[in-house]
Amino acid sequence: MDKLVADVEELYRSSFACAAQCCARAPGRVEVLGNHTDYNEGLVLSAAIDRHLCVAVGRSDNTFEFVSGSFPERVVISEVVPQKEYAWTNYALGVYHWLKAAGYPVAPFRMAVTSTIPQGAGLSSSAAFEVASGLALGDLYGFKIDKQELAHLCRKAEHTFAGANCGLLDQYSVLFGKQQHLLLIDFRTLDYRPISLAGLDIVFAITESGVTHRLGESAYNDRRIECESAARYFSEKDPAVHSLRDVNPGKLHQAGDELQASALKRAQHVIGEIERVKAAIELLEQKDLRGFGKLLYGSHESSLVNFENSCPELDSLVRIASQFEGAYGSRLTGGGFGGATLSVLDCTIEKHTFVRHLTDAYARETGHTCAIHFATPAGGAEIIER
Ligand code: GLA
Repeated sequence: MDKLVADVEELYRSSFACAAQCCARAPGRVEVLGNHTDYNEGLVLSAAIDRHLCVAVGRSDNTFEFVSGSFPERVVISEVVPQKEYAWTNYALGVYHWLKAAGYPVAPFRMAVTSTIPQGAGLSSSAAFEVASGLALGDLYGFKIDKQELAHLCRKAEHTFAGANCGLLDQYSVLFGKQQHLLLIDFRTLDYRPISLAGLDIVFAITESGVTHRLGESAYNDRRIECESAARYFSEKDPAVHSLRDVNPGKLHQAGDELQASALKRAQHVIGEIERVKAAIELLEQKDLRGFGKLLYGSHESSLVNFENSCPELDSLVRIASQFEGAYGSRLTGGGFGGATLSVLDCTIEKHTFVRHLTDAYARETGHTCAIHFATPAGGAEIIER
């Protein structure tokens, strides 16, 4: 049995003095290209990664009880409302709330959680927690839920119980990831397609900058508003435009001075990212990793200049990674404003040399310590059959 599953079952047993009834596992995810395009109906290349979160659940009478390998406390909750003190329980509580609201026959539960997804590293441990909770509760209370519906319910949980107005990227990647594949997701149609990495010997290095900007969450929500207002400008001119997805680079060029400078830059980023994702698919098919890597650097540059969701620490990490032989490309990944970068590396590099190169130069330049996680694409979330 997988060690993480064994650990979560043991944690459940030792905390609640009985065996768990059901168990589910969900991976973390990394956004490879297509920054801030999900809520603009754009295209994203992402991957589930080989770091997981596991939940074990059992029925409870009328309270919700939580234990976690990452937190010392045992939390008992009687009312399903967003928690302040034990905010980590909100992801599972939020999913429970929305399952119930959608008419699924859920009832109170006990839950144990273990994880190898670094928290706060921009690897969506929260989406993994939501999705694993939804799958485990379905198994516990004997119902099947369509994965796309579960993704939507989990996103609602994130909006209402955790306060982040995120798109669907995280939940989709966690649910539909495939081993040794990237996932191309179209957020207009919600279709997704695995893109094979066979014959492309790469490894991901996800680097935590050690910096989270205090305003990260509200800045994320502000960017979303700015994108929506840019889309409105275009749809007033042309009713066929519903979102920035409908604005091609030509239309954007014509907008020129009429559009507020900041809205223009936000639109440039989103539209540029959608074009970069399209170009990336072709380059990956041609096995052109250098060309693919350049798109990652281009994405980061656009974050810095247009979307303004980078920061000096992330810029520094990207620059240092780019100086490493064997690095194809590097960029900030996820929301930005601090957080993490993704570097795509040749899998034959010596990992410890890369780690030393990055950590030494980063500490010299910024005074911060970074943490590096190597990862490869993994399969999506699943119920553990026992
Ligand atoms: C965060 C959000 C996602 C997406 C990315 C940016 O990870 O949760 O929905 O918007 O930022 O691409």
